[in-house]
Amino acid sequence: MHKLIGRKIIRHDSVTSTNEVLKELAIEGLEPGTVVVSAVQTKGHGRMERTWESPEGGLWLSVLLDATSEIELDKFGLIPLMAGCAVVCAISRIVGLDARVKWPNDVLIKGRKVCGILGEMMKAEEKQLAIIGIGLNVNNPVQEGYEFSQASTSIVEEMGDRASIEGLGAAIIDDLESAILSELELRNNMLAGGKFDDILNEWRTRSDTLGKRVKIRTQTEEIEGLARDIDESGSLLVERGDGRVEKVLVGDCEHVGE
Ligand code: BTN
Repeated sequence: MHKLIGRKIIRHDSVTSTNEVLKELAIEGLEPGTVVVSAVQTKGHGRMERTWESPEGGLWLSVLLDATSEIELDKFGLIPLMAGCAVVCAISRIVGLDARVKWPNDVLIKGRKVCGILGEMMKAEEKQLAIIGIGLNVNNPVQEGYEFSQASTSIVEEMGDRASIEGLGAAIIDDLESAILSELELRNNMLAGGKFDDILNEWRTRSDTLGKRVKIRTQTEEIEGLARDIDESGSLLVERGDGRVEKVLVGDCEHVGE
């Protein structure tokens, strides 16, 4: 039983985008913690205004969080980070696969993207709200060429023969959904309790990015270097060849080597 996140779950067969549906409901005063899930999205979207293909078989959901009472504004960057860790833990608990987080907010299995997370902020009646959209490839065909760098995979693909047991696909989606919501609740409580270092440290230990050579594309430039760390706002600290450390808050990240 979820205390806050998932206390109310609104289910659809098909919507444009669970993030968009949740935004509309939030304007009408929907309670924080509410989740919108849809079997299909016809206009799913990702970061950098990309189209996120969302056919049947995947887990497409969005969660509404109250960011006014729970966290300071400069900690908003931690919400997608903690959501990534929640997804990694849920995958490990339900299907025993070893997933990792990739900066800024992807989840990878063996270097391939299995989940994308989209964090958006909005205001409704003076309240600062956060919407966390989670798209997890479970038993759907995966979208190739989504980003400039990234091959994709799905839970069922990574499970291999284990997934061919009849009926497993549908049951896994429900179990993953429930595990993700409870893992999110845990970390949302950590954020609300000001345990920012715990969130950052968990992300560091689950990271596939830190210690790797990365190429980052921001809106204005391309930065190449060693991913050293993340700072207290969730920005990536990249050390260039000349030793200068760049702080990147927003961008696309490609792992280019160990
Ligand atoms: C990304 O990797 O660019 C983020 C993808 C986020 C996709 C999810 S699916 C549920 C929610 N609804 C959307 O339209 N997008 C997010």
